[in-house]
Amino acid sequence: MERIVEIDWEPEEHGDERPSNFSNNPTFAEIVEARFGRRGLLKGALGTAIAGLFSGTALATLAREALAAAGPKIGFEPVPVSTADAVTVPPGYKVQVLIPWGTPIDGKAPAFSIDNTGADQARQVGSHHDGMHFFPIDGSSSDGLLVVNHEYVEPRFMHKSAIGKPLSEDDVPMGADGLRDPDEVLKEINAHGVTIVRIKRGDDGQWRVVDDPRNRRITAATPMEIGGPVRGTDFVKTKYSPDGTRTRGTINNCAHGVTPWNTYLTCEENWAGYFVNRDKGADGKPAQPREHARYGVPTEKSRYSWERARGGADEFARFDASKRGASALEDYRNEPNGFGWVVEIDPFRPNSVPIKRTALGRFAHEGVIFAPTKPGKPVVCYSGDDARFEYIYKFVSAKAYDPATASGALLDEGTLYVAKFNPDGTGEWLPLVFGKGPLTPENGFTSQADVLVNTRLAADKLGATKMDRPEWGAVDPGTGMVYFTLTNNSRRKPEQVEPANPRPASEFGHIIRWREENDDHTSTRFTWDIFVLAGGPDDSRDLAGKPLAATSMFACPDGLWFDADRRLWIQTDMGEENMYKGKLAQFGSNQMLCANPETGEIRRFLVGPIGQEITGVVTTPDQRTMFINVQHPGATTSKEDFAAGKFASNWPDGKGVPRSATVVITREDGGIIGA
Ligand code: FEO
Ligand code: CA
Ligand code: CA
Ligand code: CA
Repeated sequence: MERIVEIDWEPEEHGDERPSNFSNNPTFAEIVEARFGRRGLLKGALGTAIAGLFSGTALATLAREALAAAGPKIGFEPVPVSTADAVTVPPGYKVQVLIPWGTPIDGKAPAFSIDNTGADQARQVGSHHDGMHFFPIDGSSSDGLLVVNHEYVEPRFMHKSAIGKPLSEDDVPMGADGLRDPDEVLKEINAHGVTIVRIKRGDDGQWRVVDDPRNRRITAATPMEIGGPVRGTDFVKTKYSPDGTRTRGTINNCAHGVTPWNTYLTCEENWAGYFVNRDKGADGKPAQPREHARYGVPTEKSRYSWERARGGADEFARFDASKRGASALEDYRNEPNGFGWVVEIDPFRPNSVPIKRTALGRFAHEGVIFAPTKPGKPVVCYSGDDARFEYIYKFVSAKAYDPATASGALLDEGTLYVAKFNPDGTGEWLPLVFGKGPLTPENGFTSQADVLVNTRLAADKLGATKMDRPEWGAVDPGTGMVYFTLTNNSRRKPEQVEPANPRPASEFGHIIRWREENDDHTSTRFTWDIFVLAGGPDDSRDLAGKPLAATSMFACPDGLWFDADRRLWIQTDMGEENMYKGKLAQFGSNQMLCANPETGEIRRFLVGPIGQEITGVVTTPDQRTMFINVQHPGATTSKEDFAAGKFASNWPDGKGVPRSATVVITREDGGIIGA
């Protein structure tokens, strides 16, 4: 296997990283051709292939079992699709906006203003709220720590220098000298990461931020430890950390996880685009180490040009991973290897240093979801790699779970597996273990750290199944079945269609689910089926085999969460470039729906304002308060409107720049959300 890879890509697409899986792994096409015949598959991606799949013995059993129970109560009146610049909820429900971008996290930080500096931002809530968890204080349902990921930023909405001005083609304010204002860059860095704030419900029913020693911001500059097998290896040695034990910051924190020992995991998703590596080969063409190339590190410029901050300070220059010094200790060629990980944060210990848990693999981690944990059994968690044609992984700890001693150390030792979905409805977990199968020196792997830093390449070698952009996962607390959203895949060609990803150029996405053999989450075998093929009435299919209706149709599932009563909450992200256009126009703005995992019934619960996506969902322990996030309202603002000082959305303030925020949902009668 070559260690330096020549780059020949299509231009980067905004936000999500471009596809970089050029491996020849089967997409099932050949196997499926034998089973269903290519003609049948092409003709009826919604017909022949799926019908055949659902009649498989394992799946017929699953379907029978699923229909045997009624499932959780879903009691609200569904809301229609909407393009209002507001949050729409069912009759009897109410909403409160909480912690929009720029909210001070303590009693001292400056109030939100477009004039806030980089230093101000370090003590204010970040932007682009995403995955989130409510950690109750002493089991309370009215007092707890809200921990929120901040996935990315929209520089044009962040700086006074940008509003109403023509910007660079990347929508970034750029000086005439081709450099960026360093305080604006710092503000963007500090708007990333994670917010921890104590919130409390007052006697008036309103939730407010309470000043607390645990309130803190973790940003793209916060010092962090590198844990697990990659710690101390050559892959992560930099000028900042010559012994390869530390790095600075976490970026593109998409979804999250909550460990059985009550800490928070934040996941680094589309991190590659924050870096640039302009290294060239002998022929003058871009050439990068495989640790960069297989993840899509850009070859010309980074997404926000942080490395071009005026003055060239080390904290900004580190985003340029091109070779500059004589050795890796003199530059930041290894800086990107410190990203793409799952990061553990203890919200209850404000002085604790976040730790990157490298045994969980390096890829575009959407989120991480734990299986129910039993004392004496290993800890198991699942994570999707959200890029077109990437994979779904699971980690099984080496040591057993003991509630008395459990800690993040459990995540440093264990086996990472990647999923293979067979066309007959069975599947297997393939271990990413150095020395096992093809993961040997003959194939270019030199250690377990090498396998982990190059997780995607290792998974390629094992023949994992290329999926339609795996996003959130969720485990049914009733059956233990694991559900994953597969949001869409514009690039899947008809000959790449297979039962687990059954549609070419999938515009609408689907939700897949599986049951581990013997209901044992450590098992290496499973059976799977498709819970729902999303889309409009002409394109969709629910669990009962019927098309979705006006009250249940949706596109591009992303966020996914089971509440304690087994209601499955589905959130959508149609992508700001595509929403309101073509066949996606029928769905209005991004939304949240509620599904019954037994019957497959789906009802639309909430629609968000213009240009945003709904993401992040959790309730208080009593299930009477729900928190969700509205991310990137107004992202659909055109360049022309922006230059004229107009925004597609003014949510939540009703004027000025749109701001991402958390939304608190309660019932007028104080009842359980969704019931
Ligand atoms: Fe950050 Fe895949 O959504
Ligand atoms: Ca997402
Ligand atoms: Ca998404
Ligand atoms: Ca998105």
